[in-house]
Amino acid sequence: MQTKRILPAVIVAALLGSASMLPADEHDPVEQREAAMRTFGKSAKAIGDMLKGETELDAGAANAAMAEMQAAAEGLGELFPEGTAGAGENEFAAGEKIWTDRAGFEATLAALQEDIAAGVAANPQSKEEIAAAFGAIAENCQTCHETYRIKK
Ligand code: HEC
Repeated sequence: MQTKRILPAVIVAALLGSASMLPADEHDPVEQREAAMRTFGKSAKAIGDMLKGETELDAGAANAAMAEMQAAAEGLGELFPEGTAGAGENEFAAGEKIWTDRAGFEATLAALQEDIAAGVAANPQSKEEIAAAFGAIAENCQTCHETYRIKK
């Protein structure tokens, strides 16, 4: 019975041609990882703006932003299957190095997840506390982008 359920999807895919012709697909790992990264970006900007004094300091909102990052980071490594280097429409994309140095990539991702978890657990309230938690998290963004992300 399994084939019966799978078949229509296969036919649709064949009719539509390559996956790149499809509109944004929420099940596409490239779309999903880029969406997770955009969540990181949005949350990081929200906290960064508070720390710069561009928006009012709001510990509740800062903690909520870290919680959003934590959810986005969960299972993120699985969204980098083989054969998706350079995929996506953006100026920046996943570099080949993710797959030639998978252990290093996973370690960088694990470090991000640990720092987010520590930040959430710390539940920072003061500007100094928020800055410390956020600073540790944000270092990972740059580390990974420098090594594992390429400019197309
Ligand atoms: C373990 C590696 C890694 C870490 C850590 C990481 N990124 Fe990324 N990021 C990537 C890769 C790889 C891409 C390119 C993904 C793609 O386009 O397929 C990316 C893409 C992005 C993008 C572009 C998304 C888009 O619209 O296509 C943003 C924004 C971003 N990252 C923000 C962040 C922020 C903020 C953090 C830290 C909180 C972070 N990233 C941490 C690897 C990482």
